[in-house]
Formats: sequence, C-alpha cells, structure tokens
Amino acid sequence: MPAELDLLLRARYPLIWLDTAEEQRAIDLICQTATRLGDPVCGWTMTHGLHDLPGPPKRGSHDSPTAVLAHIIGHERRALWVLHDLGELAQRHEDVQRALRDAAQVARQRGAVVVVTGNGTPLPRCLQGIAAVHRLALPERGDQVRQLYQVAAQCNVELGAEDARALATATLGLTLEQAENIWARIHASGGRFTDGDLPQVLAEKARIVRESGFLEFVPPARLADVGGLQALKAWLTRRRIAFSDQARAQGLPYPRGVLLVGVQGCGKSLTAKAVAGLWGQPLLRLDVGGLMEGYVGASEGNLRLALDLAERIAPCVLWVDEIEKAFTGLRSSNDGGVLTRMFGSMLTWMQEKTTPTFVLATANQIDALPPEFLRKGRFDEIFFVDLPDAAQRADIWRIHLEARARASGDAALLRRIDLQGLAAQSEGYSGAEIAAAVVEGAFDALTAGEPLGAPHVARALAASPPLSRLHAESLEALRAWAGGRARSASK
Ligand SMILES: Nc1ncnc2c1ncn2[C@@H]1O[C@H](COP(=O)(O)OP(=O)(O)O)[C@@H](O)[C@H]1O
Ligand SMILES: [Mg+2]
Repeated sequence: MPAELDLLLRARYPLIWLDTAEEQRAIDLICQTATRLGDPVCGWTMTHGLHDLPGPPKRGSHDSPTAVLAHIIGHERRALWVLHDLGELAQRHEDVQRALRDAAQVARQRGAVVVVTGNGTPLPRCLQGIAAVHRLALPERGDQVRQLYQVAAQCNVELGAEDARALATATLGLTLEQAENIWARIHASGGRFTDGDLPQVLAEKARIVRESGFLEFVPPARLADVGGLQALKAWLTRRRIAFSDQARAQGLPYPRGVLLVGVQGCGKSLTAKAVAGLWGQPLLRLDVGGLMEGYVGASEGNLRLALDLAERIAPCVLWVDEIEKAFTGLRSSNDGGVLTRMFGSMLTWMQEKTTPTFVLATANQIDALPPEFLRKGRFDEIFFVDLPDAAQRADIWRIHLEARARASGDAALLRRIDLQGLAAQSEGYSGAEIAAAVVEGAFDALTAGEPLGAPHVARALAASPPLSRLHAESLEALRAWAGGRARSASK
C-alpha cells in the first residue's frame, strides 16, 4: 500500500486529486483503507453514475457531475467518494470546480473524503490550496507478485516462488492491468508462468514502453567493441561492483551517472550501449528530441513519467543521447519557462534519486549546455572523449577489421594488414570514420574482385578527409573547455 495515499485517507483530507492511469488499483487501495476506517465507499463515473464500492460498477444514480456533487454536499454521514472522469470535467466547467470546492468544505466538517482521479489532469487553479495532489506510484514488485499468484490460481497453474519473483521483476515499470494482459496472453499461448516465459514478458514490456513514448529499450553492445577510451572503460568496470549486495551491505551509494562530452564519432554512444552490456542491465534510451517536440506543456508530465518508469525498471542504464539538443530547444523556444523548469526537475531528480538508475548522458557540444548542468555533484564524472591517438586508432582498426573478417569468413585478413601503418595514416580520423573506411574499402575490394587489404582501406581514407580537419577551431575550443573541467576518457 503506498503509504502516502493511506495517510491522506486516514487523515481524512477532504479533497484528494489523485493522478493515476490505474483506476481499478486506486479503487482497491482506497477500499482497503476504508475497510480499516469502517467507512462506506461510493464510486462515480460518467457512464455508471454513483454506485457502491467495492464490486463492479452497476448502473447508479446522479449521472451529471453537478448532481453527484450536490448529493455529496447533502449527504450527512461520513463516506469516501471516488470520482473518476471528474478531473477532466472540472477542467472544462467552472460550475463543477465551484461544486468541488463546496463539497470539500462540507467534507471537512463531516470527516468525509472526496477523491478525484485523473491521468495527468492538472489541478484547476481555483482548487489549489484546497486539494492535496497525489500521484500514485507504479506498483512494486510485491504488488506484481501478488497479482501473478492470483492469476496463476485462476488458471490452475502451480507457480514456483523463484519464477514468480523473476516474472514479476520483469514487469516492473508496468501497471497491474498491463501486467495482467501479459499474463493472459502467456496463458492463452500455453505458457506455464516459468522463467521460460521471461522473453515474452520482456518483449511485451519493450513494446509497451516504446508505445508510451520517449523511452525505448536498446540492445546493449560489448565493451570489447569499444577501442581506446581506457580510462573510461576502467572507471565503468570498477563501478560495476557498486550494484552488488556487498556494496549495499556497506551502505555505499549507487553511482549517479556520467556525462561524456566530446568529438563526434569517437564512441560516446557506443560506450553507452556497452555499459549496459557490462553491467548486465537493461538500457533505456530517453528521446530528448521527442520529449521537446509537440505540445510543450505536456513535456513536463512526459519527462516525469519517463523518469518514473526508469526508476521502476531499475537497476537500469538511462541513456540520454546528445543532451545538448534539448537545450538548443530551450533557448529558441518561447516556452522557455516550461523547458527550464523541466530540466531543473531533471537535475533535482538526478541529485536526489536513490534508485539504481544510472544516467549516461552524451553531448557533442558544450556551448548549448547550461552551466548548472556541468556543476560538480550532478554527475559522478564528466569525461572528455577526444580523437583517438595512434595506439587507440590501431585498436579501433583491429576491432573493425576483425568484425569484417568474421562477417566475410576471411580468417587471414588481419595477417595481411599492418595495423600500426593504418594507425599512422589515419591521424585526425574519428572511430566512426575508421569504421566507414573499412566498409568503403571492402566495397572497393569486392568491385575489383580482390581480397580486402590495406591499400583498399588507405584509398578510402584518402578519399574522405576527416571532419576534424574541417572543424579544427571548434575542436580546439572543445579541448580548451575540457582542459580543467573534464577527465580524459583515454588516459
Ligand atoms: N572508440 C571506438 N571504438 C570502436 N568503434 C568506434 C569507436 N568510436 C566510434 N566507433 C565507430 O563509430 C560508430 C559511431 O560512434 P558513436 O559511438 O556513435 O560516436 P559518438 O556518439 O561519439 O558521436 C560506432 O558505432 C563504431 O562503429
Ligand atoms: Mg552519439
């Protein structure tokens, strides 16, 4: 039972504005508290009118919102009133707002409680200070486990404790209703609620998360596929233990997150994918661009939902790629107020979160980032990712040529190629440009009907000069900035 809602109800707070997408779960929770208080509960929806709870809604009385509020005002005894749809209606009708105010007054005198549920419906201004706004947190593992046992019992399936825990953990971040739909589908397709059903649960969850917008599960990469960046890789490898039970037992904090700033195409995004692989955690990408598009007012709520979801799924890596894009929008937009507040709340969240949601943010540019973002304490570390030096380039060549050799079944490829030579020829090139040269060279070789060799790759290099040569100035500015503020990712 979410303690805060229970507390508000037991304190008989007269008007509670309950923000949730889970109507049924809200009813169940309120009925639980009501039983302990010994109070009757009545529900109201636009379609069913007023009806007794618990139990399925039956066709009741008082269809209009003002009629039901008049009834509540005239009702002399203590009761809990759970009014769905009324938040939306109050938004649009001032007489409903007024009636809600009156009902709250009367409820206070009688010890009654009026709960208005809504999904992200903002509290009308005239009710501010009168209503307690409460957002119902997503179900916890225990809630999911309980529901799964109920479903299994209904399906006559015997459920093992370990399977129940594993399956319920996989549904964290979903509502009970969404989880229930997954169980129904698994049962219909002959599943027995064992860990063999985990892939289906995770696939369903990935779909639901994607459809809810702004968050997406991304398949992790391997750390071995990241060339160079030794200091960064060492740091990430050391931090892995922070998620262990021993670290918990010693009261060590979870890592908060890192910011990777640096030259485009040098492995920032690749590293983000690899951390999740290294730590064996799911990788959730937050789509900042998408979050900023569309109706700005909705963005605030969406960001909050996305962070909430990530916390439920934790431990996880929350990847915020090219975060500067969000701030570019922040400057040009007329609604700067909302966006500034939004990122303020994101920073506060990062500062205060106690869940193992590790934020991995990347940025190609720093000019657009507000200074408070870079202040110490927000991130555990800020790493600067520079162009690779010769030794790192050799490493990157090796990784991409080995991948090529595997893909083409050409086992002798690396024996024909001098990595140090290529490293020397590719000064100023980024990892992405090296990767592209390998592919380009392979096409060249295929066209010529020859086995891929250093000359093909070298020709590809010569044909496309590195970006760093074109943007030498901005590269220097970035390096100068990083000088005192960021740690080198490679040394
Ligand atoms: N350090 C590296 N090691 C191996 N491959 C790299 C490296 N840096 C870049 N690449 C290649 O370039 C691609 C793009 O790199 P990416 O990580 O997206 O760069 P960034 O996010 O820094 O702009 C990668 O998918 C990979 O193929
Ligand atoms: Mg990137």
